[in-house]
Amino acid sequence: MSKGAPKSAQPRRYRLIRGQRDILPPETDLWVSVEDAAHRLFRSFGFGEIRLPIIETAELFEKSAGTDSDVGGKELYYWVDSPRANKAIKSVRWKAKMTAAKVSQPDSPAKSELLRAADAGDFDTLTEADRVALRPEATASVCRAYIQHEMHQPPQPVRLYYMGPMFRRDRPQKGRYRQFYQIGAEVIEPPKPGGYGWMEDAATDAEVIEMLTTFFKNVGLSETTLYINSIGDKECRPQYIERLRNQLSKIKDKLGPDSQRRIQTNPLRVLDSKNEEEQKIIETLPRMSEHLCEPCRDHYKALKRNLDQRGVTYQENWRLVRGLDYYMRTTFEITAKGLGSQDAVCGGGRYDGLVEMMGGPKGTKGIGFAIGEDRLILSLQESGKSRSDARPSVYIVWMGEGARAEALSTASNLRNAGIRVELPGVEQKVGKAIGQADKLGIKFAVILGENEISTGVYTVKTLSTGTQDTVRKSDLIGYLNQQYV
Ligand code: HAM
Repeated sequence: MSKGAPKSAQPRRYRLIRGQRDILPPETDLWVSVEDAAHRLFRSFGFGEIRLPIIETAELFEKSAGTDSDVGGKELYYWVDSPRANKAIKSVRWKAKMTAAKVSQPDSPAKSELLRAADAGDFDTLTEADRVALRPEATASVCRAYIQHEMHQPPQPVRLYYMGPMFRRDRPQKGRYRQFYQIGAEVIEPPKPGGYGWMEDAATDAEVIEMLTTFFKNVGLSETTLYINSIGDKECRPQYIERLRNQLSKIKDKLGPDSQRRIQTNPLRVLDSKNEEEQKIIETLPRMSEHLCEPCRDHYKALKRNLDQRGVTYQENWRLVRGLDYYMRTTFEITAKGLGSQDAVCGGGRYDGLVEMMGGPKGTKGIGFAIGEDRLILSLQESGKSRSDARPSVYIVWMGEGARAEALSTASNLRNAGIRVELPGVEQKVGKAIGQADKLGIKFAVILGENEISTGVYTVKTLSTGTQDTVRKSDLIGYLNQQYV
């Protein structure tokens, strides 16, 4: 123990909890520029931003993603959010303890049943709405909001986008966090009475994917691969799943425990197993593409045709089933370089039955995607594209009390023009000021001394090259913007 104050008297230094992290400047500049790019592009495709709560009922995510999925099952952060819960747990534990004490045999089944009940708590007085969760994804919330706000009223389809934190209790590693950020978009449309909705066609699927690939291009992420697949619909998929299940049951012993369990619960998920030893076996399994019904086959063909027309390049991947239960027909994923094993920067697909399953209008269709923003940023940084300063930055070096007022008004004018300005509160020697500006990564130093003020001509130094120019006060903003290309 250190000398001086006893340990108990020293203030505790709090640390991040496991799997959490802070994102600090200047890295956050890159985050902001990526988010700006999404706002601009998504709006140009007719999408409007939706802001959703982070906490929703746990059941919403369990039902939509499926309790056997990681997202709707073991990774969900949920708790009972009610003062009544604490009371119920306390009283039941107390009652159970009292009763258990009266059971004569120490380890009777009756006693263990009571102890189990005491541990679990009696939630009789609570409703499903008291169990809430941190959202692990936002598609379910968008569908809930679509239904709750009766967005099925014309005009359709409804195009929404969102960005923000999601939470999954996963094992943290590079590119996988317990709190991570998504930028996502969804298109939802109810059936048109007697008409042909936009979403009958694969053109909407292709347009959403086109928007996504344009986004990656705009933010400068070039080495990406788009994978597509069709996982069929409720007509053809059940037969395929049965065939897959039969086949998997025959080779059960060769599979790991996770895949063995999934033979019964969700055999499709065996296909995206990352287990090295299972890879060869999976290659021999029957494929969904051979079992698609005619409408699904046509839809998939139309998707590929529409992507070709838009000049979007893709690779087909028959094993791309995705980890959430709500998908049907189109599924897609984008991988990027420099991310190691967690290389998916985006995932998405169609979910035509989801809105209806959640109590919305029958036959409503939906499609969307979510970009993993953390992974996108990592990949941009790995490929050296971390420049985030889209605007010039200036350090104002002022000398003499007479220059202070001029420095203040210059700073204010430049800031109004969107230029970042560092204005030292005290007078500095030129050499020291330039050194400080360099450390801050600033591009230009504007030097204001008595001479500059009397002539109205400023001295501007470009710090990266050391070159120096004289610029009229009225031309300063134009000069800075022109130099900074
Ligand atoms: P998802 O594939 O679960 O899909 O997540 C989308 C993306 O979020 C992933 O490709 C990945 O980049 C990122 N991501 C997921 N988990 C983590 C994590 N623990 N740490 C860091 N990044 C992560 C969905 O969430 C669907 N809601 C997408 C969608 C929208 N489908 C239709 N509409």
